[in-house]
Amino acid sequence: MKILVADYIYTPNGHVKDQALAFTDTIQAIDTLEVLEKKYPHAEIIQTESHSVIYPGFINTHVHLEFSANKTSLKYGSFMPWLDTVIEHREDLVGKCDNAVMMDECEAMLRSGITTFGAISSFGNELEVCEKTPQRVVFFNELIGSNAMYADMLYGDFMERVQASMSCKKEARITPAVAIHSPYSVHPIILQKAVNVAKQHKLPLSAHFLESQAEREWLEKGEGELKGFFEKYFKTSTPVTNIQEFMYAFDTYPTHFTHCVQANKVELDYLAQMGHTIAHCPRSNRYLGCGRLAIEDLDLPFSVATDGLSSNDSLSIFDELRAALMLHNDIPIQELSNRLLKTVTADAADILGLNCGKIAVDKLADFAVITLPETPKREEELALWTILHTKEVSEVYIEGIKYV
Ligand code: BEZ
Ligand code: FE2
Repeated sequence: MKILVADYIYTPNGHVKDQALAFTDTIQAIDTLEVLEKKYPHAEIIQTESHSVIYPGFINTHVHLEFSANKTSLKYGSFMPWLDTVIEHREDLVGKCDNAVMMDECEAMLRSGITTFGAISSFGNELEVCEKTPQRVVFFNELIGSNAMYADMLYGDFMERVQASMSCKKEARITPAVAIHSPYSVHPIILQKAVNVAKQHKLPLSAHFLESQAEREWLEKGEGELKGFFEKYFKTSTPVTNIQEFMYAFDTYPTHFTHCVQANKVELDYLAQMGHTIAHCPRSNRYLGCGRLAIEDLDLPFSVATDGLSSNDSLSIFDELRAALMLHNDIPIQELSNRLLKTVTADAADILGLNCGKIAVDKLADFAVITLPETPKREEELALWTILHTKEVSEVYIEGIKYV
């Protein structure tokens, strides 16, 4: 048994003062240090630095590790020129992205307090790194392929990757999962088969959806910038599905839809009605010129995620939260800060179906301790100060083991 003591603890009821946590691999009790010392006289007591706050480990629901080698290869500013450069540089970037590069990024995430991440994997290359990293990983095997001719082959490869992620040792903290690349890039037949796999094995399910204006125009009218792209690379000029058909394919199975920046009210209401959720990637949306997701109007749970280094400059959850504060500049900043911290802890855990993300008895002992530069003058501003002042966290625990 260990007891972790800090000035503040972030609980589902907000920041509480002068409490401590008793934990093994799960949280056993939350009370004053005096009470916990009496209850567990042999426990190791860990006193954090002054002005520290214990948070549940942060959760980055959506990242593409296999693009971690990108620095200046991909063109930012607008979605289609970016996608063109993804096609142009994909092989080179994936080739350069060896295990050492990906492990460096896992460590950077860990130092920013991320104890769980959702890895979107199109090739399965990052499985070894995800097994080695101490973090909990929801391993989203991604299905891609709109061409019916190659559909069976691509689906077979996808199933092999799903099987591999299902065979990981328990110590690896891997949860196998399914990702659908997008409505424009996955043929509806294999899409439905993959959704059925998720349903059958109760795997988390995710899909990019309505990221750009170009995607919307292509799916609605078969027009716009994606038309030229499909004519050039796939010798086709008609989309394989439309917005409604794609959404309906996920009916009855709650799915984590990434982006949804270009979804309209009717579509967002439908997603909410079906119990779906959204992964919001503020920097990725800004860097690719996709627009702003109006989070103030959302009537469904959402997470905040970094996306990959293919559309970002870091995988730090705090860099992402600071960007979210700037992007959503009409939302009162204290209210937004509190909301954001919930999206990367309790809400993200609920969305991914994990028993972490909350400091409450029986939850997994995954913590990130942050240390403010001085005693906070007003407790109601703790969320904002946490986001603004944390470049790296001071301590990280996963399942009760200290990693930072
Ligand atoms: C496709 O297979 O249709 C596809 C793959 C990558 C990007 C866009 C489309
Ligand atoms: Fe993504």
